Amino acid sequence: WEDIFKKLVSHCKEYGFVFPSSEIYDGLGAVYDYGQNGVELKNNIKQYWWDSMTLLNENVVGIDAAIFMHPTIWKASGHVDAFNDLLIDNKDSKRRYRVDLLIEEQIAKYDNKISKEIERAAKCFGDAFDKQKFCKTNPFVLENIGKKEALCTRFAQASSKNNLEELHQIITDYGIVCPISGTNNWTNVRRFNLMFSTKIGSTADAKMEIYLRPETAQGIFANFLNVQKSGRMKIPFGIAQIGKAFRNEIVTRQFIFRMREFEQMEMQFFVRPGEEFQWFERWKQIRMKWHKALGLGNHKYRFHDHNRLAHYANAATDIEFEMPFGFKEVEGIHSRTDFDLNNHEKYSGKKIRFFDPNINKSYVPYVIETSIGLDRIFLSILAGSYCKEILKGKDSRVVLKLPPALAPVKLAILPLVRKDGFPEKAREIMDQLKVSFRCQYDEKDSIGKRYRRQDAIGTPYCATIDQNTLDHDQLTIRSRDTMEQEHISIDWLQKVIADKVNI
Ligand code: GAP
Repeated sequence: WEDIFKKLVSHCKEYGFVFPSSEIYDGLGAVYDYGQNGVELKNNIKQYWWDSMTLLNENVVGIDAAIFMHPTIWKASGHVDAFNDLLIDNKDSKRRYRVDLLIEEQIAKYDNKISKEIERAAKCFGDAFDKQKFCKTNPFVLENIGKKEALCTRFAQASSKNNLEELHQIITDYGIVCPISGTNNWTNVRRFNLMFSTKIGSTADAKMEIYLRPETAQGIFANFLNVQKSGRMKIPFGIAQIGKAFRNEIVTRQFIFRMREFEQMEMQFFVRPGEEFQWFERWKQIRMKWHKALGLGNHKYRFHDHNRLAHYANAATDIEFEMPFGFKEVEGIHSRTDFDLNNHEKYSGKKIRFFDPNINKSYVPYVIETSIGLDRIFLSILAGSYCKEILKGKDSRVVLKLPPALAPVKLAILPLVRKDGFPEKAREIMDQLKVSFRCQYDEKDSIGKRYRRQDAIGTPYCATIDQNTLDHDQLTIRSRDTMEQEHISIDWLQKVIADKVNI
């Protein structure tokens, strides 16, 4: 997978999707810029999400809160005290690791051993293989299941009790080694807060330390009353927001998967206390349907229910996507109880309640949150669309089979040659269509090379202008996915493409 992933990363750079930030100064760790095609794809994803939340649900409205917020917000939300990573350093390689990720890798090793053994036995026994019976009786499988379960339990207990010595002991006892040095020579475990801070204020003595928000959610909680009152919203209702978030991540591998500056698309859905679990289940299904509607393959998604919960949640699940480096979280769905609004009530001294006329009672609403990382969904869409196809003869092509509605360019307009009035006619068509959807004009190189360039950025259709266009107002439409061509009349072009790309 490393090879495929490397190719995807260099494809992103070569075709203007994602660049390392500040590259002329050798870059800045885990910070990336979106290029001319990347920003279009990203904006289209945002629009797809925004419409699905605020157009299709009459009781979900949007806001755009400031990144800077009063510092007490982060005290109330628990982020000042609890938004920490547990870190450990390897003394030989001088590399720093997140303890939870080291444990996760160790668990994956046990899982791997177990599934290999099952696979081996399944091959041996053929149709007679009984997986359940095998797992209950095979000593090798039982031993590894036992080790895995013991590790999970010990880790969960040590984390919940904040027992840093025990966490260190677990790493030692399970022989977890540094992937770089291969040694087990670890420092103590330490806590590290992930929030960036800066100072606000114009005079030196009046400066106040504030944080860059590590999640957009708090802007929604802080505006709960404003939106509820000004919009006369009745529970249940939701508030959606798209915006930047910042975390001083220590482990920053895997390209835009884990960044220090990233974007979230979050929706907080306020419900009556006691009804949170039924809404949690409902939003789980709605969100999974949204992902699957992208058409990247239903088998690429799965839920991962959490055993260890964040400080604010009473239920949580992730929607995971099969990235080149395995199934990974792209969206979190959390039942956040009344934790946030209650604490904001406490810290601000303002009543944050809803009077529910149906039950004649005031209460602090409970919250179901859907939180998707825009950069992660961007990566999942690219990874799910990227493919190399072997064509007839020795030819091959790299193509991004992006969902057409998300493609940066919907239609490429290509004069067959740069003479005989073809470019002028192509320009005329371009000028008519560019107000309806994004078109790209290209007259350089052979038509084959131009098709390949459009395949590489995921353009679903190309229109070729030739003599037939001048003589009979007909042009050729070539489909990215099938590479088949059809002739259509210029008069129909706008409608045909708009229908195909769902505009
Ligand atoms: N408001 C809840 C919240 O922020 P989270 O699970 O910490 O929950 C939600 O984050 C989503 O944000 C994740 O599912 C992931 O897609 C995205 N995300 C979190 N940290 C990220 C990072 N460092 N880089 C990119 N995306 C990130």
